[in-house]
Amino acid sequence: MDKLIVHGGATLRGSVNISGSKNASLPILAASLLTDKEVIIRRVPDVSDTNYMVQIISALGGEIERSSGTVRINNKEIVDTAPYDLVRRMRASICVMGPLLARTGRAVVSLPGGCIIGDRPVDLHLRGLEALGATTEFESGNIIITAPKGGLKGAEVNLRGTHGPTVLGTDNVMMAAVFAEGTTVIESAAAEPEVEDLANFLNALGAKIEGAGTRRIVIQGVTSLGGTEHTVIPDRIEAGTFMAAAVIAGDGVVLRRVCREQMVAINHIFEICGHKLIYNEAGDIVTIHRGENPIGAEIITAPFPGYPTDMQAQMTAVFATTPGISVVKDTIFPQRFMHCAEMKRMGADINVDNGTAIIKGVKQLSSAPVMASDLRASAALVLAALTAKGTTAISRLYHIDRGYEHIDEKLLQLNAHVERVKE
Ligand code: EPU
Repeated sequence: MDKLIVHGGATLRGSVNISGSKNASLPILAASLLTDKEVIIRRVPDVSDTNYMVQIISALGGEIERSSGTVRINNKEIVDTAPYDLVRRMRASICVMGPLLARTGRAVVSLPGGCIIGDRPVDLHLRGLEALGATTEFESGNIIITAPKGGLKGAEVNLRGTHGPTVLGTDNVMMAAVFAEGTTVIESAAAEPEVEDLANFLNALGAKIEGAGTRRIVIQGVTSLGGTEHTVIPDRIEAGTFMAAAVIAGDGVVLRRVCREQMVAINHIFEICGHKLIYNEAGDIVTIHRGENPIGAEIITAPFPGYPTDMQAQMTAVFATTPGISVVKDTIFPQRFMHCAEMKRMGADINVDNGTAIIKGVKQLSSAPVMASDLRASAALVLAALTAKGTTAISRLYHIDRGYEHIDEKLLQLNAHVERVKE
C-alpha cells in the first residue's frame, strides 16, 4: 500500500493536462459489450477503476489492448456472467448489466453493497430494465436479469428516485434500450455530461438516441451495431480538484484540456469566493488566480447542472482556510462527510450534522497523519495538506488511485512537494 507525503507550503505554478473522465470511461468501456465489432476508446485515464473495468470485460470474453490512454476492444464472443471477484471491487461494475442483458439476453452481476459514501441501491436500474420486459431474480448475492423470449421491448420509464435521477441507472437503461424493439423514453434521466458522452459513443456505433444531456432521453431500437473510435470527455471533477489546489496554494496555475461548459456550477462557486478563472476562447484552457480576499460560500449539491456531489469534499478543504463561514450540504449522498473528521485532526473547524457541514475558516491547518476513506475524501485531504504547516502523511492512497490519474506526478509538475512512499 502506498501513502502520500505532502510537505505543505509550496506555491503551485505551471500547467497540467486534465485526463479523460473516469465516470465517462467506465460506462463507455462497458458499452463496448454491445457490439461484436472493434471499438477504440481514447483518453481512458490510467486509474484503478478503469483497470477493473478492463479486467471485467476481458473476463467476459473481450480481447483488449491498452496503451497510453487508448483502449482497443474486440468483444466478438462474450458470456453473460460478470465474475464476483472483480465486480465486488468497484460499484460502477453494475453498468455492465444493461449491455450484457441487451447483447446476450441475460446478465448475472453481483449485487453491489453499500460503500463508505452511503447506501448505494440499484432499485432504479432494475425498475428501468423491468419496464423493458426483463425479469429479475436474486440468488447468492447475484442479480440475475433475463430478457423475455421475444427480446426487450421499448417502454416509457421514469427514473426519478428520492435523491433525484440516477447516473449509472440512466446509463444502464439507455444501453439496454439500444436493442429494444420500438421506442424507449427515459423520463427524469440524469443529464450529466458523462451520460451524454456515453450516448454519443453509442450513436457512433449506430444506436439512435436523442436528448442525452437533458431530463428526457428517447431511444429507437436498432438490430445491430458497428464499431467506432471515440475520445472521452475531460474529467470535470479532476479539473475542479486541481482548481481547488490552485486557489488553495497556487499562483496562476493553468489547466489544459478542460471543458468550460461542463464546469459552470464548479466555476461559479470559485468566482463567488472571489477567485479568478480566465478561460481561453475555446473554453479548454483555464488559468486560475487566487482572490486577494477570498470569502466563504454555500454549496448545495444537486444533479447536473447543479453542483456535483463529487466536488463537495474538495471544496470543504478550500473552505477550511477561507475566512468566514461556509456551508456544504450534500443532498445526493448525505453521509459523504468522512473527510471532515480527518480534516478536524488537521485543525479545521467543521461541524457536520444531518448531511450538512458548517465550516469556519481557520488561518492555517497543521499537519497530521490522516487516512483516506474514499476517492473524493482523499482528494480533500491532499488539498488540505498542500497548505498545512509541516508534513502530512495520507495513508490508503489506493482510494485516490481509483479515480485520479498519477496525481502525485501531476502535483510534482505543479511544483508541489509530494512523495509517494510504500507504507
Ligand atoms: N439511487 C437510488 N436508487 C438507485 C440508484 C441510485 O436511490 O437505483 C440514489 C443514490 O443512493 C443516490 C442518488 O440516487 O442518492 C444518485 O446516485 P447515482 O445512481 O446517480 O450514482 P451512481 O450512478 O452510482 C455516479 C458516479 C458517482 C457520483 C454519482 C452522483 C460513476 C461511475 N459514479 O454514481 O461518482 O457521485 O453518480 O453524481 O459515474 C465518484 O466519482 O467519486 C463517484 C462516487
